[in-house]
Amino acid sequence: MSTSATEQVRHDLAPYKSLDNDALAERIDAVRAEMGPRLLILGHHYQQDEVLAHADLSGDSYRLSQLAAESDQCRQIAFCGVHFMAETADILANTPEKLQQRGGERIKVILPDMAAGCSMADMADIDSVEACWEDLAEVIGTDDMTPVTYINSTASLKAFCGRHGGIVCTSSNARAVLEWAFERTGRVFFFPDQHLGRNTAEAMGIPLDQMPVWNPFDEELGGNTEQQLTGSKVLLWQGHCSVHQMFTPAHIELFRQQHPGIKILVHPECNREVFQMADVYGSTGKIIETIESAPAGSKWAIGTELHLVNRLKNEHPEQEIHFLSPVVCMCATMYRIDLAHLCWTLENLAADTPVNVVEVDQETARWAHVAVERMLKIR
Ligand code: 13P
Ligand code: SF4
Repeated sequence: MSTSATEQVRHDLAPYKSLDNDALAERIDAVRAEMGPRLLILGHHYQQDEVLAHADLSGDSYRLSQLAAESDQCRQIAFCGVHFMAETADILANTPEKLQQRGGERIKVILPDMAAGCSMADMADIDSVEACWEDLAEVIGTDDMTPVTYINSTASLKAFCGRHGGIVCTSSNARAVLEWAFERTGRVFFFPDQHLGRNTAEAMGIPLDQMPVWNPFDEELGGNTEQQLTGSKVLLWQGHCSVHQMFTPAHIELFRQQHPGIKILVHPECNREVFQMADVYGSTGKIIETIESAPAGSKWAIGTELHLVNRLKNEHPEQEIHFLSPVVCMCATMYRIDLAHLCWTLENLAADTPVNVVEVDQETARWAHVAVERMLKIR
């Protein structure tokens, strides 16, 4: 592929959709070879196998943030994941200090399909969170409250946390982050995932009646009484993951009846009942480690996204692995990233006609970085 000025023509997506996966894979490999170490392809564990096969590095949200922060060699990152992950990579790869070291050159972060969002992240928008914060300031005060946002949130919410002494967490460090927050203030405001917040805080011994839920659609104090808010230790935003809410206690009971000795392994985005019944829980990275280190012949029912569970099943035939639901629950937005989109965005990158660049504005990035950096320092 030439990058000469006369050939700097933006490629359209449509023709890529008619190519088969072998042809697309070959073209992706050609771009890789041409761009060498200037290009870094990152992939989340929920990606389809054929996409992940092209990733230089894969990980859970925490690991992918670390990789983006360490990405000094590359000049472009193609992020096979969802929008908030690409935003976080942009924030970490392009801090003012790093830009200065590179003489102002930005690392371009590409999301192969801009429609690959996260429905949970969309459940908390900055206007509603700011409105809630103002209400809280009036009713109980916010001086003794640390805002904590799950990394599955927009950059503007991370910036909100940065400005208000708060922090970001992932599913792999939520407990350590809450401990950090409680060393500073008596209360935590946790968004957008009520389940990760509740499961983590309850495991730390915080009683349920000190964790009211804020419903952003209820104009009367988010559906709470003043007394409930005054007595709160962790205020939870009413958000959830539509994939993980599909797993139920009935599924666990059925597996335990039909497969004696089976272990239940779930992501902490599952609801409280499922989380409480599980034998082991953790981030996607921890789920993989658990299976990798389990003895042959172990039996598992896993409650997380389908593509990851199927991959574990294929890679570990020495173990008996089941998907913890009779219904197919996959992350439809992660699934949007396919070889056609990856090939299309990479060829445009190589031709110097980039498409789908994710760039967080400077002011938002500055404050969001404060909150992400606090997390990275903890672990
Ligand atoms: P992990 O950080 O565990 O990979 O989770 C990301 C996610 O979106 C889970 O739904
Ligand atoms: Fe968001 Fe759920 Fe998909 Fe994870 S699985 S990216 S939380 S919608």
